[in-house]
Amino acid sequence: MLSLILPTFNEAKNLPELLPKLEEVLKGIPHEIIIVDDDSPDETWRIAQEIGHDIDDIHVIRRVGRRGLSSAVIEGFLSAKGEVLAVMDADGQHDMSVLPRIYESVMRKNGMVIGSRYIEGGSVGEWDERRHLMSRVATSLALKVCRVKVKDPMSGFFAIRRELFHSTAKQLNPKGFKILLDLLVCVPKETLVEEIPFTFSTRLHGESKLSRRVQIEFLEYLYDVTVGRYIPLTFVKYCIVGAFGVVVHVTAYLAFSALIREGGDLTVMGFGLAVIGATEVAIVFNFLLNNAWTFAHARLKGLSAFIGFLKFNGACLFGALANYAVSSYLFTLAWPELSAVIIGAFTGVVWNYTMSKMFAWKD
Ligand code: GDD
Ligand code: MN
Repeated sequence: MLSLILPTFNEAKNLPELLPKLEEVLKGIPHEIIIVDDDSPDETWRIAQEIGHDIDDIHVIRRVGRRGLSSAVIEGFLSAKGEVLAVMDADGQHDMSVLPRIYESVMRKNGMVIGSRYIEGGSVGEWDERRHLMSRVATSLALKVCRVKVKDPMSGFFAIRRELFHSTAKQLNPKGFKILLDLLVCVPKETLVEEIPFTFSTRLHGESKLSRRVQIEFLEYLYDVTVGRYIPLTFVKYCIVGAFGVVVHVTAYLAFSALIREGGDLTVMGFGLAVIGATEVAIVFNFLLNNAWTFAHARLKGLSAFIGFLKFNGACLFGALANYAVSSYLFTLAWPELSAVIIGAFTGVVWNYTMSKMFAWKD
C-alpha cells in the first residue's frame, strides 16, 4: 500500500484541483492520502474534510498551534498504514504521474526513491536567478552532511520504505523544510536510493511558504548535525549574548560610578553599588536577549516571563558566586591573574547556561 502525505498550509484553492487528478493517477495502486494541515487561515482542512467525506482513502489531520513542513510530514508518516510512505507538495508543482514509478521502485528493492530535479531528464522549470542560486548553494551545503549522496537532497518529493522511516523516526529534527535531507543524514550508509527525474512546475494558486525564517532554520540545521553534535547552538548563542552582556555591564558600570563619584573619590561602598547596579542591568539585558533569541523555541510570555526573569536572577547569582569562588581559588594558588579571571568567568557562563536550561527555559 502507498501512503501519500500532502502537507498543506493555505492550499484551499489547490486541493479541489489536485485530489481528483491524484485519485485518477493512483487508481491501480492500493493507497491512502493523508493531508496534514496546520490549521490554515484559509481553512484548507475544512475543504479537505469536505472532499474526503465520501472517499474512504482520504484522511485529514488538522494540527492546531503548530507550524512546519518537516514536522507535518513526520506526523503524517507516523500515522500512515502503507509499506511505502511518500510525500508531495499540494500545489501542483510535483509531477504526480511519476508516483506509480516511485511506488514500484520502493516496492521492488529501494529504501528511498526521490523525485529529482537535478538528474538527466529533470529540471527546476521556471525559476528566477535568485531562487536558482539559493537552491544550488543549499544543495551543495546539504551534500556535505548527507550520509547517502544524491543529486537532489532538498527535493520535497520522495518516498521511503516504512521500516526504514520508523527506524530513524526518533533521530529526526522537525525544524524547517528539509525532511528529505534529514532522512539522508540519518539512514544507514548502505541504503539503496534511486532518483527519478521530473520537471518542477509552477504553482497552481497561492505562494511559496519558503520564508527567510525557513532559510535560517536550514543553516541552523546544518550547524546542529555538524559542530552542534558537540557544542549545542543554544550554548553558542548564550555565549554571544553573554559577551554583549559584558559590554553592557562595563558601560552601565561606567555610568553608575560616574553618577556616584560626582567629582570626589569613589568609596568602597560606592564602587559596590555601581557594580551591583551594573550587574542587574546586564542581567535584564541578557534575559531579554536570551528570551527573544537563544531560547526562541521556548520563549516565555506574560506572567511566565516575569517568573522566568526572577528565576534567571537566582541562577545568575549562583553563576556570579561560582565565578568568584573559582577565580579567587585559582588566584590563591598563584595562577596568573588574567587566566584565573577568564576561567572563573567561563565557569560562571557554563553554570548560568545549565541553570537557565534547567529552571527558566525548559525544552
Ligand atoms: N502542514 C504544513 N505546515 N504544510 C506546509 C507548511 C507548514 O508549515 N509550509 C509549507 N507547507 C506545504 C505547502 O502547503 C505545500 O503543499 C508544501 O508544503 C511545500 O511548500 P511550498 O511553500 O510550496 O514550498 P516550495 O514550493 O517553495 O518549496 C519546494 O521546493 C523546495 C526545494 O526547492 C518544496 O517541495 C520543498 O519541500 C523543497 O525543499
Ligand atoms: Mn511548492
